[in-house]
Amino acid sequence: MADSSAVTHHAPSGDVTKRDLLQLILTAGAAVGVGAIAWPLIDSMNPSKDVLALSSVDVDLAPVVEGQGITIVWQGKPIFVRHRTPAEIKSAQDVALNDLIEPQADSARVKAGHDQWIVLIGICTHLGCVPLGNKPSDPRGEWGGWFCPCHGSQYDTSGRVRHGPAPLNLYLPPYAFESDTKIKVG
Ligand code: FES
Repeated sequence: MADSSAVTHHAPSGDVTKRDLLQLILTAGAAVGVGAIAWPLIDSMNPSKDVLALSSVDVDLAPVVEGQGITIVWQGKPIFVRHRTPAEIKSAQDVALNDLIEPQADSARVKAGHDQWIVLIGICTHLGCVPLGNKPSDPRGEWGGWFCPCHGSQYDTSGRVRHGPAPLNLYLPPYAFESDTKIKVG
């Protein structure tokens, strides 16, 4: 009787263990799968060697209207340039730093006197996908910035991560304004 109940007790436990193991294997497989998808995405954006050799890229901002974003390539990396609306600037400035995963003021992420422009390296800080949000038809996420479809990270209009799993804000490339309508990246 006692033996029978012991068997009855262990059988479901063994099933759970097998199920957990299977789940682990599937999860590991999914993680490998995502990695395999993410890197070719970056790789497919790599320019030819002559473009890679360029240490800096000039960008004409004049055609980029308010609310629009463009993507350029600098040293093999996608660079997001967004012309922010007054509402987007305000929402980026008004957020309490305590609410941020990586607290950083908007003023530290834009150039003084040019806060309508945000310039970012367009690579998700989780596993390296290129987030959506630069095209008008793209989803921009709950905070109106960028949305990474790989695992759901969301960035605000300052490129700061507001919803993980990404642990960090989008990185800023080196760049400078050469005039009100021209920047040099690099
Ligand atoms: S790469 Fe995982 S959320 Fe962006």
